[in-house]
Amino acid sequence: MNKIDLLDQKIKESKLGGGDKRIESQHKKGKLTARERLHFLLDQGSFEEIGAMVMHRSTNFGLDKQKFLGDGVVTGYGTIGGRLVYVFSQDFTVLGGSLAESHAEKICKIMDLAMENGAPVIGLNDSGGARIQEGVVSLGGYADIFYRNTMASGVIPQLSAIMGPCAGGAVYSPALTDFILMVENTSYMFVTGPSVVKTVTNEDVTAEDLGGAMTHASKSGVTHFACENELEALDYLKKLMTYIPQNCEEKPPVVPYEFGRDETREELNNIVPDNPNQPYDIKDVIAGVLDLDSFLEVHKDYAENLVVGFGRLAGRSIGIVANQPAVLAGVLDVECSKKGARFVRFCDAFNIPLLVFEDVPGFLPGTDQEWNAIISNGAKLLYAFSEATVPRITVITRKAYGGAYDVMNSKHIGADMNYAWPGSEIAVMGAKGAAEIIFKKEIQAAENPAEKLKEKEAEYAEVIANPYNAAARGYIDEVIKPHQTREKLIKAFKMLENKVKTLPKKKHGNIPL
Ligand code: HXC
Repeated sequence: MNKIDLLDQKIKESKLGGGDKRIESQHKKGKLTARERLHFLLDQGSFEEIGAMVMHRSTNFGLDKQKFLGDGVVTGYGTIGGRLVYVFSQDFTVLGGSLAESHAEKICKIMDLAMENGAPVIGLNDSGGARIQEGVVSLGGYADIFYRNTMASGVIPQLSAIMGPCAGGAVYSPALTDFILMVENTSYMFVTGPSVVKTVTNEDVTAEDLGGAMTHASKSGVTHFACENELEALDYLKKLMTYIPQNCEEKPPVVPYEFGRDETREELNNIVPDNPNQPYDIKDVIAGVLDLDSFLEVHKDYAENLVVGFGRLAGRSIGIVANQPAVLAGVLDVECSKKGARFVRFCDAFNIPLLVFEDVPGFLPGTDQEWNAIISNGAKLLYAFSEATVPRITVITRKAYGGAYDVMNSKHIGADMNYAWPGSEIAVMGAKGAAEIIFKKEIQAAENPAEKLKEKEAEYAEVIANPYNAAARGYIDEVIKPHQTREKLIKAFKMLENKVKTLPKKKHGNIPL
């Protein structure tokens, strides 16, 4: 055969993966193939494949007769919005996308290139896990990837989309990356599947309930995005990329913005209700302050009492962390502390300034919280903010009570600028609780204790529960009217854009994990 024809034949064979029948079966499951996914993810025509001819070297259990060019994973590089990314996309049509020696080597190769060239790695996972026939080299291959995931953490962004099964130790590579996306009904992640669960714990559970997209998006928090279908997941990956830089040495991309326009937003004046116990949706505040339609919420269905996500302010990427008074009154608890801490760490690692909206009645009391370590979990958020060196600004929209005041990016733990709206209550606790404690005897002795309590509550609120005590000490830099917020933030973030802050020399800190 002519040499060029031979090459063409091999290229064709490699592109066919596990063959037409298996591709058809993949489509029947509502899944795209590994190559189709890359086609939709990357800029048109930008994909360059690496290692298309790689094959496994095993002869175990008939594998010598089951050789496929590419060994079940398509690897290479391309661009998203013109920016370089490295990609691997597992091919379920080849031995179930299972991972062994050669498959792992291909992934490691592009991870090494990504590290050396300072560009993100995106993994599209669709795999039956360790290739059982190849034995320990499959396990070794996973560990080689885990090690690289860890070394790359905080150096280059790592994004994982789960687009099929992801079982056993295979879940740990995505878990070590920065963001996980899952597809509803066609992807799942678990350390042990439903049949093992049945044997060990006698629980009957479906794969979807045990480790489907919504389970991990709402219950475990393992996934950050649950997507309706694969195309939506690929779109999320592209959108996410617009907020993040190529690596830890760079700044995030900037969308051109014309400074000097009218940035007042009157609608912000009407969001917080007069009654301090009435909820409102902090997302209305976020939308009112950010550039139009620029908010990309992360972990939308998990720990909804804290809202986190990316947005743009005057075209610049920022990370938003906000108490949500519409859910559990915006209280801080175990889950939302972990969610917030992880998000803050990502933003700080990749030079994304942080904006905090604060309306928090405190930490959630109770045995459930204490026994689930609200102490060490709350400390995660405290630690993450304290250590963050990116520009950090807080806007207190209403309540800032107790320890939660300290934790939510207070000046004391390194925030650069802190603003408060005029109705803010910055105090050790709410006026009612405070009055009940400090005026206990007086209230008990009163002819009408309920009346007395109200009177003392008002007295406490007047003296303590306002923003002016904090402003008098400089804990609050300025008390601002809500409609000025966007303008103030644009100016302040611009003022902070060249901020340089270094941490004390150390090997690494010891975040309360
Ligand atoms: C080798 C595998 C495989 C695997 C699937 N296949 N998983 N081959 N090693 N791990 C092959 C199947 O034999 C089949 O080949 C093809 O892929 C498609 O699989 P099906 O079972 O037909 O597909 P489906 O019904 O969709 O089920 C998918 C599945 C199931 C749920 C993933 O295949 C499965 O349970 N596989 C085993 C999962 C597992 O236990 N993996 C090891 C986890 S332990 P043919 O030729 O028939 O098309 C692990 C340790 C890592 O990963 C530790 C790191 C620390």
